[in-house]
Amino acid sequence: MTTSNPAIRVAVHGAAGRVGREVLRAVAGAPDMTLTAAIDRVPPSELAALPVDVPYYTGVREALTAHPSDAVVDFSLAQATLDMLPNALALGTRPVIGTTGFTPEQIERIGALCAEHNLGGFLAPNFTIGAVLLTKLAAVAAPYFEYADIVEEHHEMKVDAPSGTALGIAKAVHEAHPERFAHNDPEREPLAGTRGGDYEGISIHAARMPGRMAHHQVTFGGPGQTLSLRHDTTDRECYMPGVLMAVRKVGGLTGLTVGLDKLMGL
Ligand SMILES: NC(=O)c1ccc[n+]([C@@H]2O[C@H](COP(=O)([O-])OP(=O)(O)OC[C@H]3O[C@@H](n4cnc5c(N)ncnc54)[C@H](O)[C@@H]3O)[C@@H](O)[C@H]2O)c1
Repeated sequence: MTTSNPAIRVAVHGAAGRVGREVLRAVAGAPDMTLTAAIDRVPPSELAALPVDVPYYTGVREALTAHPSDAVVDFSLAQATLDMLPNALALGTRPVIGTTGFTPEQIERIGALCAEHNLGGFLAPNFTIGAVLLTKLAAVAAPYFEYADIVEEHHEMKVDAPSGTALGIAKAVHEAHPERFAHNDPEREPLAGTRGGDYEGISIHAARMPGRMAHHQVTFGGPGQTLSLRHDTTDRECYMPGVLMAVRKVGGLTGLTVGLDKLMGL
């Protein structure tokens, strides 16, 4: 006799947003999940049609009481996540958080809330499996080279530079190569800033223009050879395999787990 697991009941917070809408589509299409509710602060009268048919709420408690859920996927705003959490956890719903912009103290607070309710939670600043692998592969290569460059390219609306992902790669590369990388500092610099940012000898360059989403390339150099590792995203669908993986695994977690690499066993 075969027994099949019941579907994982999933609500989405920040559901009217750019990533939230992708999450609605991905959860609705996952054979082992049931999409329970879409939650956002946008009043129903101002809500542009959602990509799937799902009950819509502006209140977390109201939504999760009417539709008990095993997990809530959150891509909203840092403060909105912090306001949502006590309500979700009190109703036994585990958070899968993609929202960015938390201070380290706020992440600690999220962990404490999960522990208080004796429920697992998951948070990842980057849900792109390829970017997590790029970071890991770059760290593997780092000890074997003297020079390292990171070039990241994003759309023109991005508010920060370099990207958090580029800094995360630089940090992982430096941890694997604790000595400062060799770095060419020009004797003459007719145009300031062209050598990019300097993170422990790793030059970081950020390019911005329309037509791009998120692209990261790490290049290592040594005598007579270079090694380049590159990751490109072209659509917000890129986050969905990571989000679905986290939803499937959050039920088995204790306390707050941070970072997709932990779920990927890297
Ligand atoms: N972890 C990752 O891999 C990853 C990837 C992309 C985006 N993000 C992050 O996810 C977040 C959302 O990104 P986005 O591009 O979808 O933004 P967005 O602005 O398109 O969507 C955010 C949504 O949150 C809603 N919201 C804001 N305050 C709310 C509240 N108090 N209650 C309920 N809903 C509220 C907004 O109405 C909006 O619909 C950002 O923090 C972004 O940096 C993370």
